[in-house]
Amino acid sequence: MLNTQLKRLAWYKCLFIFILFVFNTACKMPVETVAPLTVESPSGNNILVFFTNEEGEVGYTVAHSGKVVIDSSYLSFDFKDMDAIKSGLEVSNSSSKSVTETWEMPWGEQRKVKNNFNELTVDLKEQEGLERKLTVIFRVYDDGLGFRYHFPNQPNMKEVIITDENTQFNLTGDHKVWWIPGDWDIYEHLYNETKFSEIDAISKRNHPNLAQTYIPENAVNTPVTMKTDDGLYLSFHEANLTDYSGMTLKVNTETLGMESELVGSEITGYKVKRNTPFSTPWRTIQIADKAGDLIESRLIVNLNEPNKLGDVSWFKPTKYVGIWWEMHLGKSTWDMASGKHGATTENAKAFIDFAAANNIGAVLVEGWNTGWEHWIGFEDREGVFDFVTPYEDYDLKEVVRYGKEKGVEIIMHHETSAAPRTYEQQLDTAYKLMENLGMHAVKTGYVGKIIPKGEYHHGQWMVNHYRKVLETAAKHKVAVNAHEPIKPTGIRRTLPNAISREGLRGQEFNAWSVEGGNPPSHLPTVAFTRMLAGPIDYTPGIFNIKLNPWKENSQVNTTLAQQLALYVVIYGPVQMAADLPENYEGNAAFQFIRDVGVDWEESKVLNGEVGDYVTIARRERNTHKWFIGSITDENPRELTVDLSFLDNGQSYTATIYADAADAHWDDNPTAYEITSKTVTSKDKLDLKLAPGGGAAISLVPVAR
Ligand code: NOJ
Ligand code: CA
Repeated sequence: MLNTQLKRLAWYKCLFIFILFVFNTACKMPVETVAPLTVESPSGNNILVFFTNEEGEVGYTVAHSGKVVIDSSYLSFDFKDMDAIKSGLEVSNSSSKSVTETWEMPWGEQRKVKNNFNELTVDLKEQEGLERKLTVIFRVYDDGLGFRYHFPNQPNMKEVIITDENTQFNLTGDHKVWWIPGDWDIYEHLYNETKFSEIDAISKRNHPNLAQTYIPENAVNTPVTMKTDDGLYLSFHEANLTDYSGMTLKVNTETLGMESELVGSEITGYKVKRNTPFSTPWRTIQIADKAGDLIESRLIVNLNEPNKLGDVSWFKPTKYVGIWWEMHLGKSTWDMASGKHGATTENAKAFIDFAAANNIGAVLVEGWNTGWEHWIGFEDREGVFDFVTPYEDYDLKEVVRYGKEKGVEIIMHHETSAAPRTYEQQLDTAYKLMENLGMHAVKTGYVGKIIPKGEYHHGQWMVNHYRKVLETAAKHKVAVNAHEPIKPTGIRRTLPNAISREGLRGQEFNAWSVEGGNPPSHLPTVAFTRMLAGPIDYTPGIFNIKLNPWKENSQVNTTLAQQLALYVVIYGPVQMAADLPENYEGNAAFQFIRDVGVDWEESKVLNGEVGDYVTIARRERNTHKWFIGSITDENPRELTVDLSFLDNGQSYTATIYADAADAHWDDNPTAYEITSKTVTSKDKLDLKLAPGGGAAISLVPVAR
């Protein structure tokens, strides 16, 4: 068996190198002058070849199961006040190693994560001139690969000012792509599904609902997911974005190529400034034969460094309710001057009572601190918010005390209004206050254009700000759920107080978007794109789908049953039950939200297609309960779920929250049925999802 496998691998490898050679010749590209270096994944399904051409340019190609999936793609850098590193390079040394390890997530989609890769390190040196050195490190996994650049300390390269990183990802066909524009300021766009050759990010420039957006060219943000004509799935992203700019990918719709386009700064005019030695983030490509395997892949966290915080058990994954949706509906306001202030002591206590009665561990209170009269629409936002002074109708200490009495935590809220310097000045004081009060989680926000003007949310300066916030928070035992954040790149492995974030078009758009909210295909797309990067604070659980009487022209574009399924499908260690408590009272479907777990021993994707549907099963930590969530786009679907993952010989009570036969996201969204039956691992469940619908199932072991 092993022999056959080895023979097959050797054959694939020969074929791949042959194709590479022919491709280079056919395209009249300079043929390699040195033997290519190869590294393959542990099972051999992915092979990466590193090559140098006659000009001393360097690049790589990738094959999966014997077929090229990334064509010859070159690597180079442009700098300020220094020649590009692009050609005249030679390999001065190379080495390989293999790693197999298992590490534990303190909270997460699964407890144990296997990290198994083969690594190739290539040391490059300019043959002439400054003789600068650059190293490229490749890690090849069964679920994809990552590579990063390392700039060693050297006499002729001390300070490095990068004006462009030119990392290419050349595709082998006009794949189907799920993309959002390469916006330097915000990720809150709807996904587009087009052929690669039809990507047109520029047409998305004028967005009516975004307080900040900047799309300089035809580029996409990451993760960007693709499907080839052969049915293979690829997703491009980055891991361990540290002291560097976020990467967007510029698309060339004619050559079907992508190239890294780092987020810049109008203040400095460059993209990144570092001193040697330093390493860049990993550039990642997830490769999967099934769409669901993309979701099960842990490549992004695996490419990050181990936990630096040690024990973070002061943070407990939790469901939460909050003084939040009522502001988005217009029932109350963040500010006090309106006379409809939401964050009053009385209202917060009512939320605490509701949480305590319903197995919900926390309450978020927005609009508790002074400054909101001067929020949206104001250019001058520096110094407006402070993060210690409550409005006079909100007794912070008393609310926290009352919460503790009832076993409910209060989640702090810091809206920075994109004035990070004001926030940085107060970080220590603000977190000290939280520490003194025994508050362990904060939701942050960065609405508006960054002050100083000319910096963007996703540039190096802000990447460093978001990191400083996480590090300072950690010192005070505070976990951060950031809105308008930098995208997740797996930092949660290193700093597990990075619990969740927005960084996508969230539920809030359903309350006020002028474009009709998030269409039913949104979340079946998010699951295979944004969610590959890390946990999401989507804020599910809206039962009053039509938003009556608050919003005549807005609604949620899913069924109620889908809102339940989102607790399982969309992963996050903090999950909001976002609706007004009065919309839950007396509704039998609320039992699922009471019951559903938030922290998982393991997760399995049972089926799915990008943008169409997905079904995920997750086993709760420390219990033997399983939960299943299934969601579909605007098309109804009949899906059969095989329960063979359940413990053998164990019976479970399955409670199924399903769309009623005549349910429909628009015509009849709240029609659902709850049924119950006993099942074992030998059973299969037939699910019928309505258009825009879903199903949520809890599976509780029957005591023996
Ligand atoms: C934007 C966040 O996404 C939203 O959840 C929050 O309510 C507002 N900012 C106010 O901070
Ligand atoms: Ca937002």
